Amino acid sequence: MIPDAGEFSPVEAAFAADAIGRTLRLRGWVLRSRSSGGILFFRLRDRTGSIQVTARKEALGAEQFSAVEHVQIEGALTVTGVVQADARAPGGRELKAASVGIIDAGQPFPIFSDQTEEFRLDKRHLVIRSQEHVAIFRVRAELLRALRNFLDKADVLEVTAPIMTATAAEGGSEAFAFDYFGRPGYLAQTAQLYLEALLAPHERVYALSTSFRAEKSRTPRHLTEYTHLEIELAWSGMTELMDFIERMLVSALHQLAQRRPQELTQLGRPPEELLALSVPFPRLTYREAIDRLAAQGLPVQFGSDLGIAEERALTLEEKSPIFVTAFPARLKAFYMLRSPTDPDIVEAADLLGPEGYGEIIGASARETDIDRLLHRLEEVGARREDYEWYLDLRRHGSVPHAGFGMGVERVLRWVLRREHIRDTTPFPRTPSRHTP
Ligand code: 4AD
Ligand code: MG
Repeated sequence: MIPDAGEFSPVEAAFAADAIGRTLRLRGWVLRSRSSGGILFFRLRDRTGSIQVTARKEALGAEQFSAVEHVQIEGALTVTGVVQADARAPGGRELKAASVGIIDAGQPFPIFSDQTEEFRLDKRHLVIRSQEHVAIFRVRAELLRALRNFLDKADVLEVTAPIMTATAAEGGSEAFAFDYFGRPGYLAQTAQLYLEALLAPHERVYALSTSFRAEKSRTPRHLTEYTHLEIELAWSGMTELMDFIERMLVSALHQLAQRRPQELTQLGRPPEELLALSVPFPRLTYREAIDRLAAQGLPVQFGSDLGIAEERALTLEEKSPIFVTAFPARLKAFYMLRSPTDPDIVEAADLLGPEGYGEIIGASARETDIDRLLHRLEEVGARREDYEWYLDLRRHGSVPHAGFGMGVERVLRWVLRREHIRDTTPFPRTPSRHTP
């Protein structure tokens, strides 16, 4: 059926101060409905909100009333009616329907409470209509907007890096390989090396791209496909970089708290907690971190990586993200700058989300010396030919620079207090699932 001709109003128009008594034409989806003795009550939802609609048989006529009675949850309707005050209705308003048009009556909606998580993941394309997911993805969009705002004001240029590459920059075993016309291809794990190439002409660049990790680890913080915000700054060392990171995060999370307070509250993160974040974030070295862990009864050998349990122990009591700096070189990627005072240490920092959430950002100053880079490539078993183009960057105006990568879903998992990272992305990709 063709929708009524004429202007439609957003549902929120029914809640305007002067809306009572006005006739509005709305369109949207049925959130829930019930009927009792010739009256139908349903909640109509659009992108701006939802309102209770009351439809009486004598107003609609028997034929239209009976058709509307058969509309399912998530069926799509148009409704023309008068806005009325109703203290019992959520929001204090309801629409008294004069006529209802059926766009799609719909089949019985298969999603209800108490279904298994597996079933809900199979039906993700429908589950994302839930009020919870609506709130999550409004927050996600606002976070991305706020980050871009900050980067724009900081005069960092947005660029695009390739997703299909010939080398696996962050380690071969965790790259998805595919056949690129008879040669090996890999899905990008990072845009970093390309950002370093774009650095010489632009000095401050960022890419917001999809990164891929073929990590089989089934943890609540790993996706195989995630949204990666990566930034590269010329003339920067670790101090400037960490200052930049904390200013960016505080600015973005304050903007988020100001623009999405309702959604944050609904999802269990009072906006005041984000507004309370401030710079500088606490900083401790890797050595201090393992001393602290030993004191907590979680001994870590110097030179061993901090895993999920260690990061959790370090951050459980924290309200602010914390930086862990000065990692042993052998734990980290080949491109990281050696400490000028200790050859076993690299100028790197991980930013750990508070409340036990753990790593959300990986950052480092980059090695500018071509011989040390060559030595590190050999150490990690990489093929020099694969990195010739990258080595060129060190042959032509190699300047100090530093950069970082932030996992957008990791940040959202912390900010929205989600148990599992998959809840922060509409169609999550994990080792056991790449559908729907
Ligand atoms: O620490 P990572 O591996 O660092 C890099 O890829 C650098 N090349 C980035 C750069 O300096 N440009 O990844 C950066 C961040 C992590 O801190 C984490 O937040 C996120 O990316 N991340 C993941 N998020 C979800 N699922 C995964 N499997 C992730 N792996 C990394
Ligand atoms: Mg990392």
